[in-house]
Amino acid sequence: MDLRVDIAGVTLNSPIISSSSIDGMDGDRICAVSEYKLGAATTKTIVKDMQQDVLPNMKAVRGQSMMNCVFGTNLTAEQWFNIEFPKALKAGIPIIANMAGTNPDEAIELAKGCEAAGASFIEYPTACPHMGNILEAMFPGLKIPLPEVSDPGDYARQIEAVKKAVNIPVIAKFSSIYHLTCKTWARAVEDAGADAISAADSIGPVMGINIEDGEPLLGGPRGYSGLTGAAIKPLVLRMVLEITEEVKIPVIGIGGISSAEEAIEYIMAGASAVALSSECIFNGYERYGKIYDGIVSFMDRKGYNSIADFKGLTHKKIKERFEKKREIIQEIIVPECNTQKCIGCGKCATGCAFGAITMKDKKPVFDEGLCHGCGFCTSVCPVKALRQEYYA
Ligand SMILES: Cc1cc2nc3c(=O)[nH]c(=O)nc-3n(C[C@H](O)[C@H](O)[C@H](O)COP(=O)(O)O)c2cc1C
Repeated sequence: MDLRVDIAGVTLNSPIISSSSIDGMDGDRICAVSEYKLGAATTKTIVKDMQQDVLPNMKAVRGQSMMNCVFGTNLTAEQWFNIEFPKALKAGIPIIANMAGTNPDEAIELAKGCEAAGASFIEYPTACPHMGNILEAMFPGLKIPLPEVSDPGDYARQIEAVKKAVNIPVIAKFSSIYHLTCKTWARAVEDAGADAISAADSIGPVMGINIEDGEPLLGGPRGYSGLTGAAIKPLVLRMVLEITEEVKIPVIGIGGISSAEEAIEYIMAGASAVALSSECIFNGYERYGKIYDGIVSFMDRKGYNSIADFKGLTHKKIKERFEKKREIIQEIIVPECNTQKCIGCGKCATGCAFGAITMKDKKPVFDEGLCHGCGFCTSVCPVKALRQEYYA
């Protein structure tokens, strides 16, 4: 079985990448996380003049999601070039240098510095929509408009400039705020010379409130932040599907991955590799290795020999829905219960909005007259005991 993947001519020994976040905060941390079957590790965003973070800047959101308003790296670019890259390279895996300049010349200078320091890729993020008001408060007089979502021209020109400055592949990293225009953005960066796309960074601005005193949960003038983790996964998964329909360059799927199953979903949506952060903040960076092992078990069970065997499978399935005229199904299929598997928890009955399920002798009984065939019960069953195959 072969889990190697190719991203713009660079072979990764594993499809799992640590995304730009706390696990890329310095060279030592990159070495520590690289032990867990990573194909590549990403630095936190390297900027020329780093800023001190505002506090508090990270809060958990119900359901394995989180809000953050952290800046990029807390180290200077010089420290990255001279101290952290040499340390990170000892991990023996490709290093993705995530970096951002405040103007095109600075971006070019940083990109050259990262390449000279040994990075295998440059990753260039789009703007974080929650950062503007924090920076405006820190630097009175500064005005940062909300990011332009319909016109990718400015960003594509930055990608083009960075691409011309280095010989290593350049990855364009999109924020989730571009989810409705992601095809346009993908086309623009591919045309500008990007070698790959990573999707996505957080969505926002978002906020939470402490109801004891009414304070916004996070720091900064309004407590605005970016949302990551489980909440963004369904949205980014669809982005990855659409981006991979639009362009030929490889895509790295990032957003809410907490299990092998979710990583596999991204690969089926067309991603060549996946990256994650929030899950490892919640549950430790050993999770990278567990997700890798889970993909191995899945491939073993399904008889797949390589990632290519199931990459983009969902594109084919969507095509088939049209070919077989199965894009709209309206005949109800009432679920069937495998009573051997069922543990009698009753989650299906509680979750049935139509009152179609009652528990008898700790097993669900379906009322065919009341069942709307929606499928929700099958998705809340913790042991996958309910069967309802609309596309079998
Ligand atoms: C605490 C935290 C810090 C982050 N810092 C950066 C960063 O410096 N640069 C960047 O491009 N993305 C950054 N991200 C975004 C992640 O790389 C990733 O795109 C996003 O969190 C979605 O993945 P996840 O749901 O697995 O966390 C950060 C995310 C978190 C949670």
